[in-house]
Amino acid sequence: MKKRIAIYPGSFDPITNGHLDILDRSLKLFSEIVVVVAGSGRKSPLFTPEERVELIRDVVADRPQIRVDQWSGLIMQYAKEHHVHAVVRGLRAASDFEYEFMMSTMNKELNPDVETVFMMTAQNLYFVSSSMIKELFLYGGDISPFVPPQVVERLEAKRKKAGTR
Ligand code: COA
Repeated sequence: MKKRIAIYPGSFDPITNGHLDILDRSLKLFSEIVVVVAGSGRKSPLFTPEERVELIRDVVADRPQIRVDQWSGLIMQYAKEHHVHAVVRGLRAASDFEYEFMMSTMNKELNPDVETVFMMTAQNLYFVSSSMIKELFLYGGDISPFVPPQVVERLEAKRKKAGTR
């Protein structure tokens, strides 16, 4: 059967267990998933794109069907250049819907051959977001139930380097 390749784009600043849950479920539908670290244009990230790519590679090292890439242009341009069939996006709450609806409609205008596939985020993780993780960590909360251990390590290393707490 023909290989079905999907991309999972996002800012991943940093990757959370919510993203991992979407990735693992996507592997049931697609033979290969490429996590694409992209700029959202609306955010000032904590980790550089290179750091985010390295961190995700570390987290998914035991999943050979997942690759990680970086892109600074339009996601649909990436899809065209890499012969991608679909884009995977996670929906957490009703509040995600409008933005995702507009983005997938714009993407369809740009490249009608690519479908966007939405997955509902796991019930126990719908309240998790990368910003929430960074805030929880900043104020000394325990982030370990919500992120892979490598994320805890990198955040601690960043804090140590910045010389705070
Ligand atoms: N579990 C937990 N959290 C999740 C999640 C899940 N399953 N899915 C998303 N989130 C969180 C993210 O952590 C992120 O949190 P934050 O806002 O606190 O950082 C938030 O939901 C949304 O993040 P993300 O999925 O990374 O989307 P984004 O809005 O940051 O990035 C891009 C969207 C990068 C895909 C989009 O801007 C893009 O395609 N950019 C390239 C340019 C382009 O082609 N634009 C579209 C056409 S104009």
